[in-house]
Amino acid sequence: MSSVYQVFRTRTGRRVWLRTLAGAKDVPYLIDLFSHLSPTSRYLRFNEPLADPDPAAVAAEARAIAENACRQGKGWLAFVRMGRKPQVAVGGVRWVRLDQEEAEIALTVRDDFQGQGIGQAMLRVAAADARAAGILRFVAIVHSANQAVSQLLRHSPVAVRRVIHAGQIYIEADLTDADWGVPPTEMRPVRRAAA
Ligand SMILES: CC(C)(COP(=O)(O)OP(=O)(O)OC[C@H]1O[C@@H](n2cnc3c(N)ncnc32)[C@H](O)[C@@H]1OP(=O)(O)O)[C@@H](O)C(=O)NCCC(=O)NCCS
Repeated sequence: MSSVYQVFRTRTGRRVWLRTLAGAKDVPYLIDLFSHLSPTSRYLRFNEPLADPDPAAVAAEARAIAENACRQGKGWLAFVRMGRKPQVAVGGVRWVRLDQEEAEIALTVRDDFQGQGIGQAMLRVAAADARAAGILRFVAIVHSANQAVSQLLRHSPVAVRRVIHAGQIYIEADLTDADWGVPPTEMRPVRRAAA
């Protein structure tokens, strides 16, 4: 059983809960999440369309993501109940420490759940947590056509620096002095996960 860190409703009223990534045991959730990403979302997240990837390579990447997030930062999965399935991962976010002050951020929401506020909620939790862990800046490199990230940044409560180069945007977000709307108290477990 893992701790649930935040429970919220999507814009369509769907109940979503976030819990921390628990390492190797979450690899099947990461693989399932990946399998529900369109080639466009895969391209935006991994810089390749990965239309027909080798399942072994997908599993290895999922393991690497889970291990890195747990060893050098923190990650969360967003879950919903879906039909008879009590817990389906629909999103994931992780920050990985690059040095004392800086961390790389990456987030993904499966296509059929995009645009409902899950990315925004995950980003807030990750930013508040990273700040509490002493991280001063998030960095990311995203495709310049990534409209969803542009929108996310538009709502960001922090100063964001963008450098565009060769179709990619280097993003640097200053986490100091920001109110992410997620007080540290909310970061504590509020109940045990359903499964
Ligand atoms: C980036 C991503 C995580 C955003 O997650 P999300 O749950 O869709 O985000 P939200 O629902 O919180 O939306 C945030 C804003 O982006 C907008 N948005 C979401 N998807 C969009 C799209 N495809 N095109 C344009 N705007 C979009 C939303 O409307 C919202 O803006 P608003 O509040 O002004 O309406 C998701 O689109 C995704 O997984 N993309 C593929 C992977 C990726 O690009 N990851 C980021 C690089 S690591």
